[in-house]
Amino acid sequence: MEAIVAEDVHFSYDGLQPVLNGVSLVVRTGEVLALMGENGAGKTTLVKHFVGLLKPRRGRVLVFGVDTREATVAQLARRVGMVFQNPDHQLFAETVEEEVLFTLRNMGVPPHEARAICDAVLREFDLARYRDRSPYSLSVGERKRLALASVLSYDPDVLVLDEPTAGQDYFNKSKIARLVNGLKRRGKGVVVVTHDVEFAAQVADRVALMAGGRVVREGPAAEVLTDAQAIAAARLTLPQIPAAAAILRERGVKLSRIPLLPGGLYAEVIALLDGGAP
Ligand SMILES: Nc1ncnc2c1ncn2[C@@H]1O[C@H](COP(=O)(O)OP(=O)(O)OP(=O)(O)O)[C@@H](O)[C@H]1O
Ligand SMILES: [Mg+2]
Repeated sequence: MEAIVAEDVHFSYDGLQPVLNGVSLVVRTGEVLALMGENGAGKTTLVKHFVGLLKPRRGRVLVFGVDTREATVAQLARRVGMVFQNPDHQLFAETVEEEVLFTLRNMGVPPHEARAICDAVLREFDLARYRDRSPYSLSVGERKRLALASVLSYDPDVLVLDEPTAGQDYFNKSKIARLVNGLKRRGKGVVVVTHDVEFAAQVADRVALMAGGRVVREGPAAEVLTDAQAIAAARLTLPQIPAAAAILRERGVKLSRIPLLPGGLYAEVIALLDGGAP
């Protein structure tokens, strides 16, 4: 189902310098879309349109059929939850626990339910031991997890995660990947803005590459993330598996395709061995 539809979106912060130059993109429920591309490409600017924080100067954005110009940020937030690139832009309560409870209150969750939900998300994000501390006393990675916990607590239909793995250690990155996959299985739509190609390879169904305020390539992750030229043009590097497969091909190994994930590479190699290749 189409959750967010951006149609020919144009935007400029100062009315002079264009930042989005006609972006059209669809976000679907039950799917993970990775939005990637160089610094300053317009990724954060675009996703701020998905929650109504910015409105197009030309074109339109529909969130579950509602034009973002005709809805308040609070109304849109119930359907689309956003975790900002910089968590300090969304944390303001005096304690970690209050941060989550405040969000739940804002979303109209009754207090007795809010308490149980808050306890559960703080445990899930390994933040329960900090419940009485100020969010500002947390490390950068912990603050990002708190912002994620707050937004997930009220269970919006679409999650927009701007650089969710930035500053996360390997353990937490894997946990976020599992979380994103779990959200998708529950039918949520997930947009991840990321420079992390390995993370995108693990979680994304579709990838949109942005450059200069435009979507320059969009398609299934298995196609876009294995396309060396498109990836280089977006100032990214190929994920390790397609990079390794490309080297094998250069060395004359006859792979039928460039796989994205380890399982695909094993299958190629086993097929070659079974076929009696040297
Ligand atoms: N509040 C603002 N006022 C004026 N210009 C802005 C503002 N926010 C962003 N810009 C400019 O808009 C352009 C796109 O910025 P944006 O933050 O959307 O890029 P991005 O793709 O998210 O980059 P990054 O990968 O660094 O997060 C940049 O040139 C940036 O300088
Ligand atoms: Mg950004």
